[in-house]
Formats: sequence, structure tokens, C-alpha cells
Amino acid sequence: MTSTRGDLDRLLLTEREHWRDGPPHELFARLRSECPVHWTARVTEYPQEAGYWSVTRAQDVHTVSRDWRTYSSASGVTAVSDLFMELMQAMFIGMDPPKHDRLKMLFQAGFTPKRIAAHEAEIRRIVTEVLDRLEGRDACDLVADVAQPAVSRVIGSFMGIPPGDDAIWARLMNTSLAAGDPDLAPEGIQGILASEVPEIFRRCSEMIAQRRERPTDDLTSVLVHAEIEGQRLEEHEIVMGFFLLVAAGNDSTKATYCSGLRALIEHPDQRALLLADPSLIPSAVEESLRMFPAFAHFRRTATCDTELAGRPIRAGDKVVMWYVSSNRDETRYEDPDRFDVRRDPEHQAFGAGGRHFCLGAALARLELRIMFEETLARWPAMELDGAPAFVESGFVNQLKTLPVTLGPRA
Ligand code: HEM
Repeated sequence: MTSTRGDLDRLLLTEREHWRDGPPHELFARLRSECPVHWTARVTEYPQEAGYWSVTRAQDVHTVSRDWRTYSSASGVTAVSDLFMELMQAMFIGMDPPKHDRLKMLFQAGFTPKRIAAHEAEIRRIVTEVLDRLEGRDACDLVADVAQPAVSRVIGSFMGIPPGDDAIWARLMNTSLAAGDPDLAPEGIQGILASEVPEIFRRCSEMIAQRRERPTDDLTSVLVHAEIEGQRLEEHEIVMGFFLLVAAGNDSTKATYCSGLRALIEHPDQRALLLADPSLIPSAVEESLRMFPAFAHFRRTATCDTELAGRPIRAGDKVVMWYVSSNRDETRYEDPDRFDVRRDPEHQAFGAGGRHFCLGAALARLELRIMFEETLARWPAMELDGAPAFVESGFVNQLKTLPVTLGPRA
């Protein structure tokens, strides 16, 4: 932290080197204090594309997230690059009102509090069954052995995916979302667009056709038959929504579970608090979401010339909301880098309000609570067994390995 503002002007924030060991929190702290709305001149690896604004403070992220007229989701949302733009535009996460609102309303039919609560026993059964597979072992990788199979089956059971297909869906989604990571996506982005994406669509269309013929009680069936004020979803709308839900369900909850568990292992005093009083677990889940949001950012594009925190934004400029930064904004949180399971914070991990607030937030919270509860109750003294590794990405904020020793069974 010795340099001056000049180096911030030259900073290319999404450059790989800044993200090898997770989000560059020191850099974000400097941006919040010295240049809270920061211009990066070019997109690393895509020099032909225009640069982007980085919004790093909670209040400014909130402003961007709520003002869909000025900050549109219809020209790319997940990456600072325009690469996946067409794919995104076909999902409601990549649309503005009124198109967005119509689709989201129909999808909400599948996410009523009643439907989610009804899934609680099934989620606990799945998590318990995944943990049972570890009996007799001394060590495991929490990402591959617990988080991945558990979250894949939870979203799989919610959507109606047959259990035998979980692994292929997980691979398709992990590869697509971690497009820049050399281990997870060795064939690169073009390879993914050519192979993984068409395969996802094919499998999804098959499931939809089956539900049309024979309705079931899973979410896919709800979507196929959802009707509000005479409106129904079209085939391509269901396929794209399905893709969005399976992607979100496979990745994000897994990320928060692993980062949260790692923090508990690294802060035994905090873990002891949860073991002594498990009613603190929902608060620990919120603190994990705050400190380790599963998505480092989402993006908007300015529809008109405007100004944000005194910086001139032009129509067409990309505007990136960095949740990994806003969730540690020192004007919102006392000692923001401290992991405190009693904090029960508000945060922006599910988005900062507005039209695109996460549709799966209630499901994710329930799932995380159960995963924390069951893991801690069974193995209260897990320890790290080697260094965890991050997915190399400025978009997904997650570990790709988290080796642990299980310790004595409770
Ligand atoms: C820890 C878990 C999760 C996190 C951190 C998370 C985060 C987010 C964020 C930040 C957004 C906002 C995107 C934006 O503003 O452009 C979002 C949207 C969304 N999420 Fe989640 N999510 C999680 C779990 C889930 C799950 C389990 C599902 C579904 C099964 C889901 C489905 C969605 C959908 C459909 C949207 C788009 C909403 C819209 O555009 O109106 N998410 N999520």
C-alpha cells in the first residue's frame, strides 16, 4: 500500500495476477478510499473491447443496482467482457423490464416460501447422505466430496434432474462458469460454447418434453405449466431459465459453504461459538455471504450519460458492481475484514436490491444453514489438510479445492 494514485489509474483490475489467491481485498480497500468509482481502460484478454467502471462502495453499488433505467442488464451482466452477452440476453437475468418482470413473475411460481419450506426435509436427507459417504475416512476435499455432490443433488431434486445426471450437469456448469480457469476449463471459452452449451440445451429440452406429456411435482414441471393472467412460458424461455437456475444452484451455494467452512476452521473461536450455540448458524451464514460472496461482481451498461460519485459515466459504458468490495465497505461494517459469526449483517451477496435480486436467496439460505448444521454437528474439529486453492476468476469467487482432515466424529 505504498504507491500513489498514479498506479490506480493504470490498474487493470481483472488481470489474472490479481485473482490467483482470491479477491484482491487490499486493492479494493484502496479503491474504496482513493478512487471508489474506478475506470479500467481495457478488458484483460479482450483488448478490442472497451474498458469498464468499477463501483466499489456499498452505497454506489446500491444506486446502480436499483436504477435499471440508467444501468441496464440487457447488454451483458456476468462478465466485464461481452463474450457471453448473447447467451445472457436470452435469460431473464440479462433483460430489463418489462420483459424481465414478466418472466421473473412466472419463475417465482416455483420459488414460493411454501415450496421451499417443503423441501427442507429432502435437503437434510441429501446432505446427511453425502456426509455418510465420508464415514471411515480421515480426510477429504470439502469441495469435491461434500459441497459439489450436495448442492448438485439439491438443485437436481428441486428441478427434477435424475440423480445419475448430477455429475454431468455439475461438470457442464462448472466449466461454463469458470471459463477462464486453466484446470476447470482447459478447452477455453470457444470450446465451451461449441460443446458444453449445446449439450446443456439438448438435455434440458428432453426434460421439458417429458414434463409436457406427464406433469410431475418438480420445478421444471411448474415452469412448463406455469400460467399467470393467461400468460405461459415459451419453450426457449424455459430452457434458458433452467440453464440459469441449474448454473446458479450448482455453483453459488457450493462457494459460500466452502468459504464459510474454511473461515470457521481458521477461526476456532468462532467455530466454538457455533458449536456452543447452533442458533447462531443463520447469522454465520449471513456473515459468510458478506465476506465471501459467491459472485465477485455483476455488471450493467449505462443507457445514457450520467454521473456516479462525481465520475462521468457515458451512455454505453460498462459498469461493474463489485460485491467483494461493497460487502467490506468500512463505512457500513466495523472492522470489515473480521469474520464474526454474531454479526448477522445485511449485505449485497444476493445483489444490491432492485429488479434482479436473487430469485434463489431463500433456497440458498436454507441449504447453507442445513449444510453448516450437519457438517459441524458431525465433525466439529475439522482442520485444514494443505492449502486451499481458488478458481482463477474475477467473476466466481470460490475455492476449487479445500482439503481437510475430518477429526473425531462427534
Ligand atoms: C449463495 C448462493 C447465491 C448467491 C450468492 C447468489 C447471488 C446472486 C446475485 C448477486 C444475483 C443478482 C444478479 C444481478 O443483479 O444482475 C442473483 C440473481 C439470480 N439468482 Fe442467485 N445466488 C445464489 C443462489 C441462487 C440459487 C440457489 C438460485 C436458484 C436455484 C439462484 C437463482 C438466481 C436467479 C434466477 C437470478 C436472476 C434474478 C433476476 O435477474 O431477476 N441463485 N443471484
